[in-house]
Amino acid sequence: VAPLKVGLAGLGTVGGSVARLLQKQESNAPESNVLATRCGRPVKLVAVSAKAEAEMHALGIPGLRFVPSPATLAADPEIDAFVELMGGAGDPAKSAIEAALSAGKPVVTANKALIARHGVALATLAEKHGVALNFEAAVGGAIPVVKTLREGFAGNSFERVYGILNGTCNYILSRMEGEKLSFADCLREAQRLGYAEADPTFDVEGFDTAQKIAILASLAFGVQVDPDAVFVEGISSIMPEDLEAAAELGYRIKLLGVAVRTEQGIEQRVHPTMVRLDSPLAQVMGVTNAVTVDPAGFPPITLVGPGAGGAATASAVVADLADIARGLRAAPFGRPTEALIGSRRAPMQRH
Ligand code: HSE
Repeated sequence: VAPLKVGLAGLGTVGGSVARLLQKQESNAPESNVLATRCGRPVKLVAVSAKAEAEMHALGIPGLRFVPSPATLAADPEIDAFVELMGGAGDPAKSAIEAALSAGKPVVTANKALIARHGVALATLAEKHGVALNFEAAVGGAIPVVKTLREGFAGNSFERVYGILNGTCNYILSRMEGEKLSFADCLREAQRLGYAEADPTFDVEGFDTAQKIAILASLAFGVQVDPDAVFVEGISSIMPEDLEAAAELGYRIKLLGVAVRTEQGIEQRVHPTMVRLDSPLAQVMGVTNAVTVDPAGFPPITLVGPGAGGAATASAVVADLADIARGLRAAPFGRPTEALIGSRRAPMQRH
């Protein structure tokens, strides 16, 4: 059977993990190649683009072709699917994805900033060319939350979607509480472990969570994706004393992203939130993420799992590639059917 030939742009923490994961599957004996078994065909990395060719050689994967320009790689006749892991809300990631889609090639990206800003236009381009645009890795690390919301509840409406969506912040809050470490020490450790964004203020000031909740709100409620309509407050001013005071009252402080149905429309917000110590979200510690969805008519469903880092994110990227290898195309994305209300602080910050 013909393999799915993949071109990958970006060899940072996530890109390197994806390359190694694909290589590991390929080097397995056929019966142990879980990916090929699930897809009915092998998934083979054939070409990469990165800032320097040395990054490709450092992977130690034989037979890869280096293409300096991501947009050239995206439209390369030799590849069947393009994976964008460069990051950044604009070019070169955006133009490379456009080049791939326009050339009729399905795309996988982990780029939440790009999906939050341009996801609807890119999804429209993908539909026009009849190919997939998959972005499972943009939200919730290894948790299949995009797939769950995009496809898993086709007949349901939701009251709320909320959760812990930034691994770096949850890691920092957990270690500050558990080991009485300073905010700065915890952040440095999160960076060292490859959880934080290139600019970690993006994590700790809540903007990463805002982009993720805007994407989830669009999937759950059919609203437009608008990270600017999210009220945002981060965790940089939380002190160990705040965590202690919360615990004395029976709460734990978590940075939550929340999208909720109101009479005026869908409200979105991100802020440190007191969650009851006996609630499921209070048990979520470390780099773990959790997303709770409240489908109308039955009890909430919570998904919990690894939320950041190379391996967790690579797992979601490869799952998206597996769908493409099987010829699947996900439901349309970002067609507004409900109103969003603008950014506003919530009257009560307890959950
Ligand atoms: N910096 C992000 C986080 C990476 O800490 O959750 C995953 O999106």
